[in-house]
Amino acid sequence: MTGYPGSGKTILSANFIYEGATRYGEPGVYACFAESKKTFIREMNKFGWDFEALTHENHFAILDLSIASDIDIQSSLNLIMEAVMKIHARRLVIDSITALSVGLKSRLEKRQLIRLLYKLVQKVDCTTIMITDMPWGTERIGEDIEEFIVDGIILLQGRYDEMGLLRRQLRVLKMRETEHALGTFEYKIEKNGIEIDVEPKVKGRSRTREHRGRKLTVEEA
Ligand SMILES: Nc1ncnc2c1ncn2[C@@H]1O[C@H](COP(=O)(O)OP(=O)(O)O)[C@@H](O)[C@H]1O
Ligand SMILES: [Mg+2]
Repeated sequence: MTGYPGSGKTILSANFIYEGATRYGEPGVYACFAESKKTFIREMNKFGWDFEALTHENHFAILDLSIASDIDIQSSLNLIMEAVMKIHARRLVIDSITALSVGLKSRLEKRQLIRLLYKLVQKVDCTTIMITDMPWGTERIGEDIEEFIVDGIILLQGRYDEMGLLRRQLRVLKMRETEHALGTFEYKIEKNGIEIDVEPKVKGRSRTREHRGRKLTVEEA
């Protein structure tokens, strides 16, 4: 998943983990490289998502691997693997590859990181969201090769309308083995999390009839 800063990548991913743990019996692991565990828990509480309670029930594990933690990459990936095995996780979020790769100077080092991540994702039996940050004003999705090896790419963007209001937009650029929606979908960050408007703003393949004309939750979308 990629997008500009503030586009909702962390919230959407947390939404995905929370729904998995509470509605589908799929435990989740959240690896925080971009912010501290404390900030994450506090921010998500505002949406009514009690990740602390989920942790106590072993449905959720959060790893604080932010820059301040001073843990090297290989150890971080080992910790992720351990957490996944411990709670039998089925969902995993790595937030973000951009933060994880801070300090890697050469292209070679970045490629090695992608290779390590690829191996990790192959080993764990999880649906995994890997986040990359797209700097403002650029269109570049990843650092190097991750956009080719991942099964799917979800792009979160925004544009300002004529009233000067930010309209958030989601696009699916790639989803292997899926006849995915081709449109541009507006979404909002509401008090219950991410809400996606299923009427595409740019017409693409429309969704099933019962989905048309109403808001979908992250899970349904
Ligand atoms: N409680 C909230 N209610 C509505 N919108 C929020 C809330 N908290 C954060 N936001 C919006 O979400 C943005 C941050 O989302 P986040 O997922 O952290 O972005 P990213 O990870 O893509 O940088 C904020 O800039 C703000 O616009
Ligand atoms: Mg974020």
